[in-house]
Amino acid sequence: MTDRKNTPSLDTLFAQANGAIDPQTGGVVPPLQSATTFVRDEDYNPLSPNHVYARDDNDLTRLGEEMLAQAEHAEDGLLLPSGMAAIATVMRTVPNGGRIIMQSGIYWGATKWTRDFCARRDIDLIEVDCSDLKALQEAAKPAQILWIETPSNPYLKTVDIAACSTLARELGATLVVDSTAASPVISQPLDHGADIVMHSATKGINGHSDVLAGFLACKDAQSTLWQSLKTDRHDAGAVMGSFEAWLLIRGMRTLPLRMERMCTNALVIAKHLEQHPQVETVLYPGLDSNPGHEIASRQMTGGFGSLLSFRVKGSRENALKVVGKMGLFKRATSLGGVESLVEHRHTIEDTVPDNLLRLSIGIENIADLIADLNQSLT
Ligand SMILES: Cc1ncc(COP(=O)(O)O)c(C=O)c1O
Repeated sequence: MTDRKNTPSLDTLFAQANGAIDPQTGGVVPPLQSATTFVRDEDYNPLSPNHVYARDDNDLTRLGEEMLAQAEHAEDGLLLPSGMAAIATVMRTVPNGGRIIMQSGIYWGATKWTRDFCARRDIDLIEVDCSDLKALQEAAKPAQILWIETPSNPYLKTVDIAACSTLARELGATLVVDSTAASPVISQPLDHGADIVMHSATKGINGHSDVLAGFLACKDAQSTLWQSLKTDRHDAGAVMGSFEAWLLIRGMRTLPLRMERMCTNALVIAKHLEQHPQVETVLYPGLDSNPGHEIASRQMTGGFGSLLSFRVKGSRENALKVVGKMGLFKRATSLGGVESLVEHRHTIEDTVPDNLLRLSIGIENIADLIADLNQSLT
């Protein structure tokens, strides 16, 4: 039998922030460390080991990295000031004249930045729908990076991580998975063969829409790639501020609990919308009818995430009318917060169908959310 005393579950580790306390006072919350530099003694040794300069030495950043690396079953983790900073740090490892294979139809900011970056650096960029394995295999060529996002934003497509891992080995590529929409609670891409997992920690990990943060974790901390990511973060200075790290840890203490509630709410809403007469189609990997459901069930445990999209019957005007009537769902971009949000994605990304609405489901009472959807769909 497992000795549960020695193997606390993720819920317990997160609730207790890995047991971190204020060592000076015994306070049950780790203190906010604001110093950017640390004193040395007469012999020029640091007064406290591992405390020289804040770019490397922030205890809160280290604690957040440890907690998230544990959740991802990773050897090491790195916090960065935003999800985009994490993406750029990985992409910058590709040499001029190299090649990146990137899933199409993913978070628009990642696509846009990578396109511009590849054009500047003479890097060949192959964009392909990686949820279609055959299409991916046909388009694939030797590359430095195979970049996938699962579930994808805003189409909620599921990509088979294990199959992509096999292909990446053949291509000599590093497989990177943007797992933002899943969170580290319900999916651990490294267990399915990914080399690097990436998150916009701005989203579910923080969960309170008040911190920008990014996270990277790896399977092999000794790999050349991981070492160069660490060097890049240090040398290029893409580090989080101390207050942001403190807020992030505070948010993360309830991450497993929030995800449980958000996933339950999202599934109920997806099923409800699926049978609503004003809805054309619902995109959510938790639905039996979703083409990615079987793979998602293998890759995700305890839920299918809090993000879903649906297409309203009719045109752009019909969709905007629905959004305009919403009361509890706030009309705002982003996802993963405790409050439910709705976004008409086409308004800022014109390749997205104009009757598609993206919902980020929060922790509110499910009956209230359903009532708001029902009154706005009439
Ligand atoms: C899937 C995904 N990846 C990355 C990002 C970028 O993260 P950030 O806004 O923290 O830079 C986002 C932001 O919406 C996202 O949805």
